[in-house]
Amino acid sequence: ELCEDPRLFVNGISSHDLHQGKLGNCWFVAACSCLALRDSLWQKVIPKFMEQEWDPRQPEKYTGMFHFNFWCFGEWIDVVVDDRLPTVNGELIFCHSKERNEFWSALLEKAYAKCYKKGDPRYSRGEGVFPMAPSLQKQDLRRRRKQQQPLTARDFETETAMGLIQGHAYSVTAIRKVSLGERLLSCSKSEKLFMIRLRNPWGKKEWNGAWSDESEEWTNVSDKERRKIGLTMDNDGEFWMTFEDWCKNFTDVDICRLVNTSFFSIHKTWDKKIMCGAWRKNPDPLLNHAGGCFNNRATFLQNPQYVFDVKKAEDKVLISLQQKDQRIHKKEGKGENFVIGFEIFKVEDNRECRMHTMHIQEKVATSAYIDMRTVFLKVLLKRGRYVLIPTTFSPGVETEFMLRVFTDVPSKLRELKLNKPKPECLDMLRGFPKRVSQIRIHAAEGLESQDQSGGANPYLIVSCENAKVRSPVQQGTVNAVFNTQAIFYRRNVKHPIVVQLFHTRLLRKPFFSRSPCG
Ligand SMILES: *[C@@H]1O[C@H](CO)[C@@H](O)[C@H](O)[C@H]1NC(C)=O
Ligand SMILES: *[C@@H]1O[C@H](CO)[C@@H](O)[C@H](O)[C@H]1NC(C)=O
Ligand SMILES: *[C@@H]1O[C@H](CO)[C@@H](O)[C@H](O)[C@H]1NC(C)=O
Repeated sequence: ELCEDPRLFVNGISSHDLHQGKLGNCWFVAACSCLALRDSLWQKVIPKFMEQEWDPRQPEKYTGMFHFNFWCFGEWIDVVVDDRLPTVNGELIFCHSKERNEFWSALLEKAYAKCYKKGDPRYSRGEGVFPMAPSLQKQDLRRRRKQQQPLTARDFETETAMGLIQGHAYSVTAIRKVSLGERLLSCSKSEKLFMIRLRNPWGKKEWNGAWSDESEEWTNVSDKERRKIGLTMDNDGEFWMTFEDWCKNFTDVDICRLVNTSFFSIHKTWDKKIMCGAWRKNPDPLLNHAGGCFNNRATFLQNPQYVFDVKKAEDKVLISLQQKDQRIHKKEGKGENFVIGFEIFKVEDNRECRMHTMHIQEKVATSAYIDMRTVFLKVLLKRGRYVLIPTTFSPGVETEFMLRVFTDVPSKLRELKLNKPKPECLDMLRGFPKRVSQIRIHAAEGLESQDQSGGANPYLIVSCENAKVRSPVQQGTVNAVFNTQAIFYRRNVKHPIVVQLFHTRLLRKPFFSRSPCG
């Protein structure tokens, strides 16, 4: 009814296929432009695209039904929409393509709206906004662009003198180092400029400052280099800026990190662990799981607790805490995200039960506390065991969450459920634990050297009754920093806690033995 020869795709898919319509959803259109840049991504969202395409030779196959897949709260969900799209005077009013007969972007927008509002095409923004970290370096951006990780940039919607729209989201479609100067003329090294290409989701209205489409700065760049970066002068909403101008003109950048967990990847791969949980109120402190943030010292440790291990000397750990989308509750006057975040503590190497005190455990990381759907943190952690406590900012808030932890070496992320060790049959004979002792050994100084180079390879064994904790070996030092922690559930309080220090060679040879308490 809208055009001749309607298609899902015309000449394949491109980031230019999206033109924002009457909705203030630049954030969605900008993100979809990024999606269109990478086949492996959009083909997940638009499944079996060949089968879904209109086939003029088999018109009887067409059902007017389209499938899209969206990742919601850890699951890929199939959203089905019909082919009816809202129009005024025969023109699509929402997202549309430059080509009149191409409909993937309009149908995708409709499906996304259905996913969140069950058929209501008006929806609000609610994706995570990641403020640009001051340490975000050019190289970092370039590397991510190289690995084709989508970026979108957002500003605060009025047009500035320089052609940018305030309060608007743009997609970052390329990041390049551009060589300046004609190679023939400049015999020495050519100067390089770090540049970013942006796209306005309106498909028009471009930056008109330095390095914009027709600007004279480009006369300093060879034709070859211009072809290499794919410079076009069309008023298609896409333009180049220098990194410096971009930094001056934008306040926020959202980065979508593509974490490859495939064993066969040529890039770095990650081990992924997912846990789903909930903050739930209960008048019994031992059963309450809605304790609020660290400010609420009396209830903080009542939150759900998760433990994981870092098994390398140091590992980069990526953590994402996502709360359940609240937008379906909009009609009830709710629907806003809760303020959420998490804390990470380095704990005893043998901890298997929930934390009830914070005497010796060291807080090693805190996420941002913010009312976003997802809170993300990248942190470098040393070898050891860690407890991660996800919380809402205020105590007593009930909702569900999903926690994802990505590490290089499997982290064995699991929930700590027990408040104390499970009673064993032998306890009837041995007696039940009477005291819990926690110990932290910081360092050992001035050890006797054990080899010609004057070093030693010390490690600790901390034991009590039948329990034992062994520290990693510290190599080539007579002043070792351990920071090893252990927890003991003691049946016989007269039995001491024994700390032994050994040097690693063929035979274990104790330096000394000492019982710090008993
Ligand atoms: C071209 O580059 C030279 C050297 O960096 C600079 O002085 C000149 O202003 C540039 N020309 C334009 C039009 O930007
Ligand atoms: C955007 O960048 C240009 C060039 O650096 C600068 O002159 C202008 O003031 C910037 N705009 C804002 C709002 O900072
Ligand atoms: C992960 O790597 C594999 C192998 O290189 C590739 O086939 C797959 O598309 C990658 N996944 C993502 C999300 O980049």
